[in-house]
Amino acid sequence: MARYKQSSINEVSRRSDLVELVSGYVHLKRNGTSHVGLCPFHKEKTPSFHVDEDKQLFYCFGCGAGGNVYDFVMRAENLDFVDALRFLAQRASVTLEEEHGTYNSNHDEEALLRKRILEMNRLAARHFYENLLKPEAISAQSYMQRRGLDKKTTIKFGIGYAPDQWTDLRDYMESRGYTAEELVTAGLAVKNEKGRIYDKFRNRLMFPIIDVRGNVVAFGGRTLGEDQAKYMNSPETPVFHKGRNLFALNLAKQVGMKEGLILVEGYMDVVSLYQRGITNVVAGLGTALTEEQARLLKRYASQVYVCYDGDEAGQKAAQKAIALLGEAENVVKVISFTGAKDPDEYILKKGPESFRALIAEAHESVEYQLLRLRRQYDLYDVSQKITFLGEAAKILAEIDNEVAREAYIKRLSVETDITTEAIKAEVLKLVYYRNRKQVKKELYNASTPERLNVDVSGVNQGQGTATYKTERILLNLIFFHRRAWELAQEIVQPEWFSGEMHRELFQRIMTYRRDNEEVRASDFITRLSEESLKQAAVSLLYIQFEGDSVQAMREAVIKLETEYLKKYAAKLAGEGNVKEASEIYRKINERRG
Ligand code: CTP
Ligand code: MN
Repeated sequence: MARYKQSSINEVSRRSDLVELVSGYVHLKRNGTSHVGLCPFHKEKTPSFHVDEDKQLFYCFGCGAGGNVYDFVMRAENLDFVDALRFLAQRASVTLEEEHGTYNSNHDEEALLRKRILEMNRLAARHFYENLLKPEAISAQSYMQRRGLDKKTTIKFGIGYAPDQWTDLRDYMESRGYTAEELVTAGLAVKNEKGRIYDKFRNRLMFPIIDVRGNVVAFGGRTLGEDQAKYMNSPETPVFHKGRNLFALNLAKQVGMKEGLILVEGYMDVVSLYQRGITNVVAGLGTALTEEQARLLKRYASQVYVCYDGDEAGQKAAQKAIALLGEAENVVKVISFTGAKDPDEYILKKGPESFRALIAEAHESVEYQLLRLRRQYDLYDVSQKITFLGEAAKILAEIDNEVAREAYIKRLSVETDITTEAIKAEVLKLVYYRNRKQVKKELYNASTPERLNVDVSGVNQGQGTATYKTERILLNLIFFHRRAWELAQEIVQPEWFSGEMHRELFQRIMTYRRDNEEVRASDFITRLSEESLKQAAVSLLYIQFEGDSVQAMREAVIKLETEYLKKYAAKLAGEGNVKEASEIYRKINERRG
């Protein structure tokens, strides 16, 4: 049987609109983001068949039939999954690509390999760190001192030292049971033409790059000597994709939503600002900012302060970063400074207070871009003035707030002595094109969590005890709300769930969220091959939830944990362990009170 790529399957569902598809079979009436009609899968007189436009799921409160576009086609056309996929692919003009090899076994091997590399990285990081403490690391220590970095910072970032030797790390890792070849795969060693394997990082200060889950995914190393390459980064490996990580996001993610994140160019900038109390700071990894990094920032930062080096290269890179960040719908401000080449040098010279003032004075990105643009043209020259206005219009077209747009147009009109109407016409033309692009993009992104507006109707649908319902709510929250998922990683235990079904769904949701940046209910459903699991998933993902998700999460957690502890205590008591059981009861009651 043909096996199609997951990316193809995603593409097809992304390009298919469930509402439009179902409308070909059922007369639907709109009700908010829900569409309601008579269920095509059972006989009924009053409509209980719902299609959720945002989630791209259907669910019948009458017969319990539910699923995504594929499930609908499978049922309505009586096809198996592959044929339903082909049916929809043709309809959406998507060319399906086939998977080569045996998918499942590759998948397992890949996971094992990743795990092994992460172990190696962690061990290597510890080794580098320990190296730095040794007496023979005097050159590295004095370098740290010269750059003004203290012990606390070293520990916080796990900074380490790779000595000027060919096989220091290799020898150590071999003594711990890893082969040289494995080291090459992990990007920690390289192999020359003669087949000799030696350490990739030598005579360097080592910065571990740690992802938001706390995995050491790569390293950046700064030379302590005269090496041509000032910085050297791990190559792309099965656990590291430069474009998808940001240096220090593991440390900054907690404060990003409160304070926004400052995006700088260099490792040293991050470390230096951090040590001086500016802890909401991250850096790219030596390449131009990528779309994925921009999206990552959107997830972890309420706003992004771009603070690149003052030189021409830095400012050019900043321009590109600002555009990318804007496209990913970040709120962007720009920190500019003079009298230093980079943020590290600035804070060393002028101190943290002065840097905080820069943050406070940061320009809105539009303001900043207009200022910059303005400096490049001579407005007394008519042709330059026209070019300037054309470029300025592009910037203004990106603004969503009409009042703000109007204000900038007025100012430009005064500055250039061109009527506001003429400038506005130009801007609106561009806005029109942008909106067309936007609509397309939204169709693609339908059912991202941010767009969901959840209310509690439907929670009481179906059967079961209060606990069962709480479990459903909890799973729904973990699926759709990133923060809830993060909390769940730390606290929720699989044993809390009363039945096999929810326990299994909990595990699957956790894995799905871990492996997917973007959360789509309908994609998740596609991966559930067991029918009963799928039905349970659809019905609980269909829950509409309104209000503070974190608060609801807390309530659910307390309830389920208490239930679990009670059962546990009862079991202990049954086994005659009364003392421990009553201790647990006491704790439960304490929490209630
Ligand atoms: N970079 C790189 N390879 C280089 C130079 C730079 O990958 N050969 C990346 C690194 O991520 C570095 C960033 O670009 O942190 C910024 O470079 P630069 O401004 O030159 O480095 P600084 O952070 O200022 O380094 P330092 O202060 O240590 O000289
Ligand atoms: Mn620097």
